Amino acid sequence: MMAEDLSIHTGTKEEQYEFILQQIAALIEGEDDFIANLANITAALKHQFNWWWVGFYLVKNEELVLAPFQGPVACTRIKKGRGVCGTSWADVTTIIVPDVEKFPGHIACSSYSKSEIVVPILKDEIVVGVLDVDSEQFDYFDETDKYHLQKLVSMIPLQKF
Ligand code: SME
Repeated sequence: MMAEDLSIHTGTKEEQYEFILQQIAALIEGEDDFIANLANITAALKHQFNWWWVGFYLVKNEELVLAPFQGPVACTRIKKGRGVCGTSWADVTTIIVPDVEKFPGHIACSSYSKSEIVVPILKDEIVVGVLDVDSEQFDYFDETDKYHLQKLVSMIPLQKF
């Protein structure tokens, strides 16, 4: 499938996720380059949902380091346990933050970001990175996002990681 074939799907959030996850499955099928797949995943998600920021951080030498993303420039390194991303890594759990100013230690890469969801990426039960999505609206992410974004990260081929 060619990237320019990607179209935007309307409908409920649920339907949009079902659509874009199918598109992403087709996009990454047969490609085992990890970074290329992460790059296309962020582009597809940004294209469909037009979130403020969507991207990956990968664990390198005990830090999260910025990886493919779409949106404004962001902080490059996050330590374990710091911010929403570092907490998701340390606790091995998805975190939904309805109001970033109320999350202790939140790292503000952009003052426009108001709510956030961070999903850990696991390989053999070890966190190898996180998917982070930011919205410029409060309380934007819910269990539907959590369910589908967890499904999405489980689709990423990690053999060549
Ligand atoms: N807000 C995140 C940092 C990453 S940026 O939002 C892109 C955090 O607190 O971990």
